[in-house]
Amino acid sequence: MAEKKLMNAPENIAKIPSTLHANSPLAAQAADTFDQLGLSIDDRRGSDLPVFSPIDGSELAVLRTDTPAEVDAMVANARAAFAAWSQVPAPHRGELIRRYGALVREHKEPLSLLLSIENGKILTEARGEVQEVIDICEYAVGLSRQLFGLTIASERPEHRLTEYWHPMGVLGLISAFNFPAAVWAWGTTVALVCGDSAIWKPSEKTPLTALAFAGLLAKAADEYDLAPAHLIQVVVGDARCGTAIADHPDVAIVSATGSVRMGQDVAVRVAGRFGRSVLELGGNNAAIIAPSADLDLALRGAVFAATGTCGQRCTTLRRLIVHNSIREAFVQRLIATFATLRIGSPLDDATHVGPLIDRMAFDGMQRALEQARAEGGTVHGGERLDAAGAADAYYVRPAIIEMPGQSAIVREETFAPILYVMGYDTLDEAIALQNGVSQGLSSSIFTSDVREAERFQSAQGSDCGIVNVNIGTSGAEIGGAFGGEKVTGGGRVSGSDSWKNYMRRATATVNYSASLPLAQGVKFDLDIDP
Ligand code: UN1
Repeated sequence: MAEKKLMNAPENIAKIPSTLHANSPLAAQAADTFDQLGLSIDDRRGSDLPVFSPIDGSELAVLRTDTPAEVDAMVANARAAFAAWSQVPAPHRGELIRRYGALVREHKEPLSLLLSIENGKILTEARGEVQEVIDICEYAVGLSRQLFGLTIASERPEHRLTEYWHPMGVLGLISAFNFPAAVWAWGTTVALVCGDSAIWKPSEKTPLTALAFAGLLAKAADEYDLAPAHLIQVVVGDARCGTAIADHPDVAIVSATGSVRMGQDVAVRVAGRFGRSVLELGGNNAAIIAPSADLDLALRGAVFAATGTCGQRCTTLRRLIVHNSIREAFVQRLIATFATLRIGSPLDDATHVGPLIDRMAFDGMQRALEQARAEGGTVHGGERLDAAGAADAYYVRPAIIEMPGQSAIVREETFAPILYVMGYDTLDEAIALQNGVSQGLSSSIFTSDVREAERFQSAQGSDCGIVNVNIGTSGAEIGGAFGGEKVTGGGRVSGSDSWKNYMRRATATVNYSASLPLAQGVKFDLDIDP
């Protein structure tokens, strides 16, 4: 049975809000944020979907949800928007994103507060996520003047062989609760400069953040005469709406971030109609701590990567592979450092770790702890902390689990702050452990040995999409391609040249000679009367 009793841990439970439930102050703050943004969600209010704050479990709003039939109508609107928007020159499309980025920058504080209230991540991380939205806007604006193709040497005389990139169509983007704004912005701002229109199905756990970020974009579009109506639309709804998007033949690109199970379903549906999918799914990220590592740096890197966003990033550090010569001492320092983490309200600047998103996340964590124990693990931490009487808020102490090997539970992604620790003797063994899971998102090595660092990044090293040296597994910048291999889905949502996911390629051969030589030396002589 999962441990459900609230545990008192006076020294670490600091600053959980004292006004819990009193006139639902968080709901008032969330509503106030929309006022500050000049947005209203009145037309979205209804009786279908209650939205809760993980901070105290209080209700923030109740929304009306969209039905699959409404999704259908949105896709039709998005097709019409695409027809107009795809004709706007790309640098002018960039102008919309420039204006949007300015709005987000102007409203960074209220947006961060709303994000923190609805998602529970600590304010500094919420501000970081909003910054990530601003950063990708700047990236997309620059990109709007850099959507270039290639000129390729033709084998035929007086022929020109080139590649063009054209707008693709409607983007349907499905995102998760853990990065309720940034992941959407990575795909959407880039797709918009590429000439696509976009529909967004955010997580049902974080629709308010979505309505705020998309609302500001809609406002920027309303004020921009080149932007058509319905360029960006938000679907509030459950998995049935996600399915409607995945199945719709007029949704050219489906970008999905979330669980492997969801991604598997989306991938099969989209492939079945020969659509394009861009998938960023589960991660089970590891860091190797080599004997030559700067251990203070490794400790800081590991603790942030394992506990940031309460262990609910796709890039969260979940497995630590420590050289056996330093393992015991390092684990002791980890345990001591975890004990200093301040767990509590994410709105308090002193807090390191906010709450889990909900009860389901907590139950999943407790099940994993139990299974780890059954598989021979020694668990440190992981218990629930008393949230000043808020029965529906799930604060936990992040767990460290010393494991005898990479057993079944270690190979699973549990979306909670659990760090499994294993030992190794040779780098080969460490790399085999690192790669010995089905997921392939992020990885890192802490070492001062250049040969180890290079080997880890080589084709014989990490098999992940993200390979770091002397930093943790999380906190990627927007410039680099983001995504991973194996069951992580293989997609690159944003960064680097991933804009190509949001466009279609045309290969053009132009003959400016007076003859018609065929490629590959094919002869096909015809007697044609002049
Ligand atoms: C995610 O968890 O889906 O690299 C995105 C990071 C963040 C993005 C995480 N920049 O941790």
